Amino acid sequence: MSLPPYKIKSVEPINLISKEQRIKKIEAALLNVFGLEADDIYIDLLTDSGTGAMSQKQWAGIMEGDETYAGSRSFKRMKKAIRDILGFEYVLPCHQGRGAEQVLDKLLIKKAQIVPGNAHFDTTKAHIENRGGIAIDCTISKGFEPKIEHPFKGNLDLEKLEKVLKDNKNNIAYILITITCNTIGGQPVSLENIKKVSKIAKKYKKLLFFDGARFAENAYFIKKREKGCQNKTIKEIVKKMMDCADGMLMSAKKDAITNIGGFIALRDKELYKKLVPLDILMEGFPTYGGMSGRDMEALAIGIYEGIDAKFLHYYIENQVGYLGKELSKQGIPIIKPVGGHAVFIDVKRFLPHIPQSQFPGQALCCEIYIEGGIRAVEIGTLLAGRNLETGENIFPKLEMVRLCIPRRVYGKDHLDYVNKIITQVWKRRKTIKGLKFLYEAPILRHFQSTFKRIS
Ligand code: F0G
Repeated sequence: MSLPPYKIKSVEPINLISKEQRIKKIEAALLNVFGLEADDIYIDLLTDSGTGAMSQKQWAGIMEGDETYAGSRSFKRMKKAIRDILGFEYVLPCHQGRGAEQVLDKLLIKKAQIVPGNAHFDTTKAHIENRGGIAIDCTISKGFEPKIEHPFKGNLDLEKLEKVLKDNKNNIAYILITITCNTIGGQPVSLENIKKVSKIAKKYKKLLFFDGARFAENAYFIKKREKGCQNKTIKEIVKKMMDCADGMLMSAKKDAITNIGGFIALRDKELYKKLVPLDILMEGFPTYGGMSGRDMEALAIGIYEGIDAKFLHYYIENQVGYLGKELSKQGIPIIKPVGGHAVFIDVKRFLPHIPQSQFPGQALCCEIYIEGGIRAVEIGTLLAGRNLETGENIFPKLEMVRLCIPRRVYGKDHLDYVNKIITQVWKRRKTIKGLKFLYEAPILRHFQSTFKRIS
């Protein structure tokens, strides 16, 4: 057992409204949890993005935030921290992860070009498609088997990757490895796999990028599970991972424990020079890029706290892992092994009577909210969207509800309550009904679509 490496200095009140009120609120939100308001939620497990608790050091750093438009001291400190931890020479600040995606993709993706990777995140895929590109998923098949306890389910299938590269030699924009891989359950990629992908990228002369939103968690899993890595520090492992890539796209809202922020980190000066005007056009001058000076200070400090081994151990094992174990004890089907930032419920086994076309994950999120004021999020058919060519719904192999744990926010009592509420929903699962669209949003439809129950 590891103990929490922090104590609470500042508290934020939360309130559980009555079940009657919760029913009214979710109906008013037309059965989309994104339509709920903060005051209507008791425990918010929607996301770990920008919802972590900052440390006293980060809050103190915020007072030193330098808001100079060009040449900010805070940018200098942020760049120094990124260089130190990730080893990339050039840094372009962006307002968040998708800002970084937008800037990079504008330069690197031409119409019909391919970005092979491992289960690209939804906004990442949407940005690729927005440029007319195609995201091809090369994740290993075991990544989609919910019961298999593979230590690195985020790994890329090297044969599949190489075939995509061979068949589309002149039509590859870049290769993207997501660490950890959120869309398939917060699953890590091994150092060995990263090294092999890097070798393949070099062979085909293609750029390799990380989507590194949860790079520190990935390093933790490598330290814990990969042969020969147990005696290395998280920082050493991060460095070894980064050495394999040409750059990294970062949403700092996760592993750098900031409320907002992101960046593109690069090795190549020429590529950096080409991206600077695009950063200015879309995000802001390259010494702030959509971030305030105080946010850059918080990032410069948070990125060190995010790689702290004691913190990672407590968060991944005693919070996320603990919740996963407790749910499993109740017989609740979850994706195994438990991921880095969240427990993912296996909805096909939770609600086998609701077909994917009736959005069982979304229906389950509504019931979890009604049962106990807890907000979770669907990562399934709703999020997967439609096939661009056929217009048909994509039915993903994994139909999931994500219980995402914000960093340094909730305690054991909160997690025990989550376990109790999910167990209560599990007991009455057969009464849950599927959903159909009232309104289907045209892109990234999970955020804004509305539903009614199928009677
Ligand atoms: N890449 C990954 C792997 C992500 O999980 C996210 C965001 C992004 C990129 C985009 O970053 O939000 O800063 O623009 N994930 C959040 C989530 C929203 O809830 O998992 P962003």
